[in-house]
Amino acid sequence: MRTYYLRSFGCQMNEHDAERIRYALEAEGLAPVPAPDEADVLVYNTCTVRRSADDRIAGHLSEAARLKREDPARVVLVTGCLPQSGPGAFFRRFPFVDGALGPQNLHRLPELLRAAVEPAGQAGGPSGRPGFFEDGPDLSGELPGRRARPFQAWVQVMSGCSNFCSYCIVPYVRGPERSRDAAAILAEVQALAADGVREVTLLGQNVNAYGLDLRRAGRGDALDFASLLRLLDAEGGVSRLRFMTSHPKDLCDDLVAVVAELPTVCEHVHLPLQSGSDTVLAAMRRAYTADAFLERVAALRAAVPDISVTTDLIAGFPGESEADFAATLEVVRAARFEGAFTFVYSAREGTAAAALPEQVPEDVRRERVERLIDLTQELALAANRRWVGRRAEILVEGPSRHGDGLRGRTRQNVTVNFTGCAQPGTIVEVEIEAATSTTLRGRTARS
Ligand code: SAH
Ligand code: SF4
Ligand code: F3S
Repeated sequence: MRTYYLRSFGCQMNEHDAERIRYALEAEGLAPVPAPDEADVLVYNTCTVRRSADDRIAGHLSEAARLKREDPARVVLVTGCLPQSGPGAFFRRFPFVDGALGPQNLHRLPELLRAAVEPAGQAGGPSGRPGFFEDGPDLSGELPGRRARPFQAWVQVMSGCSNFCSYCIVPYVRGPERSRDAAAILAEVQALAADGVREVTLLGQNVNAYGLDLRRAGRGDALDFASLLRLLDAEGGVSRLRFMTSHPKDLCDDLVAVVAELPTVCEHVHLPLQSGSDTVLAAMRRAYTADAFLERVAALRAAVPDISVTTDLIAGFPGESEADFAATLEVVRAARFEGAFTFVYSAREGTAAAALPEQVPEDVRRERVERLIDLTQELALAANRRWVGRRAEILVEGPSRHGDGLRGRTRQNVTVNFTGCAQPGTIVEVEIEAATSTTLRGRTARS
């Protein structure tokens, strides 16, 4: 039997695509192996959101090139956002790659694999190599996957993004916002529940815009996101529903009410702020002000006890002054985020921001991101410490990483390591005894 090695990078959407890639490769008769040098087929599912992602992948691909020199019969395939961002440049930089395709053409992976193992010259594509980059309907939402985790699953509700934030490559590589049919989403969630899944995370670049494209296309009966959550809460059959990512400009009161009211919807909203300066937010084309953002956070905190609000932040966007950055620190403090992903701004070719004058020097960007990391860790630690001495509801995921107990996750999406007796896949109460900025520790509660 032939074997494959798969390595995936980037966001949850890409992790979920990796599950579909595994399914497709295994349907073609390939068996997984844990190391690239054991594999006949090497697949890299890539991300290109920042330069650092490209550099990391280039390192892995140079290893693939070496393995292919050792054994030219090896096949190297690249999927995901990197080849889609510029197929010509991609094949010039990595000429040994046998085939590549972008996230909107994932359904053609079996075709790409077969073309790559056939003699050269059989398939078309950029540089005469197999590779399919034409825009197609995104069918990936409907593709079957091989789930990585037994009790938790991702369900894609939308693909693409139509926001074109000025720094971001995602709309170029993932195509426009397209929503899946609510009936198909419900059927998928019900099937997962029947297969033992307790927790489903709904995925989209901007889930709050769910259904808008369907309505614009004349489907007047299409559900909006809050109504989709109501449907899944009532009929989906899982214990926990999560969703990400929310765009602050589209977080409406109805959604706040749904998070507050529906028993299965977890008390966690990932709400990327990016910057706290109105000048920078406008240049980023985020379509909200710092005050409007803080008002949305206040609405969530007022309506939903114990809600966790996490965020994404970018340091060193072009033109960001020290005063702009100070405004970000101030808004971050005011929002009291429970967690944050902090990024150094990275110019992406083809995006509007890459062409702006006044790129901030690299050392200034780094120094600012360090200050953001310090502040957001301080806030996360304070937030987690509030749980010490209280009980939290945990979905048990399995043994803890260090093997000395169990591991699970709160409704607020915080990892908990704990002692006591509990079966993976069950939901238990845990007495929280200690906190760090990223995890909690405790023991199962005696009821
Ligand atoms: N759709 C999601 C996130 C997409 S990318 C959203 O809109 O929130 C994840 C995060 O990467 C973004 O929130 C942003 O903080 C960061 N990011 C995107 N492009 C970037 C760039 N060019 N440089 C640095 N960070 C970037
Ligand atoms: Fe990128 Fe903005 Fe779309 Fe998020 S909303 S994926 S940051 S363009
Ligand atoms: Fe990266 Fe593509 Fe996701 S660029 S962040 S893998 S959408």
